[in-house]
Amino acid sequence: MKRQARKTSKSQSEDRGVISRFMASVTGGYSGQEAEGEPATDLLKAEHDEVRALFKEFKDASDEGTTAKRVVDEVCRKLEVHAQLEEKVFYPACRRLRNLKARKIVAESLEEHTIVKKLIKELGGLSARDESFQAKATVLKEAVEHHADEEEKDLFPVAEDELGEERLHDLGAEMEALKARLLRAGGAASSMGRKQTTRSTRSRARRRTSSRARMSG
Ligand SMILES: [Fe+2]
Repeated sequence: MKRQARKTSKSQSEDRGVISRFMASVTGGYSGQEAEGEPATDLLKAEHDEVRALFKEFKDASDEGTTAKRVVDEVCRKLEVHAQLEEKVFYPACRRLRNLKARKIVAESLEEHTIVKKLIKELGGLSARDESFQAKATVLKEAVEHHADEEEKDLFPVAEDELGEERLHDLGAEMEALKARLLRAGGAASSMGRKQTTRSTRSRARRRTSSRARMSG
């Protein structure tokens, strides 16, 4: 019986290996070796720390408009990616945790993401000179710090305990691959915007030339 249980768990772990290799190959991250992801909770904690450090920079620079705007823009870009990693990879895995409090934190975090995304959108359209910029950035800072503290205190330890090391490494690898894909897509979206402008300028020029040719003919 014990042998059967070990066999099942071995084949489950092989399945998970296949899934993470598939994910990495789809996203271009697989190089023929086993994907060695950082544990998901370590990766998310490191991202929380990066954002905390940026918010500290924002607080120290709050009377210098240009620095505050640059720092807040960077925080917003990082948070947009962070939210996707949690919503698409980490939270779905945590929804099946046995610990009820941890599952409640996942539900609460999703609501907090809605508020954070709204603030990010509003901040994107504001200059640091706008009256509400400082207020919205401060509310964003408080919401994000609360979210990060709560996850680290009440969700990550449960996830580490229940999901186990191997699953956490697999989730970490999935998140790394998704992060790389999102960052590539972000860069491609902005260069595509430039290409479309160039293409539409050229086609306008072609239309002008052919209508001039028709008029002279
Ligand atoms: Fe988080």
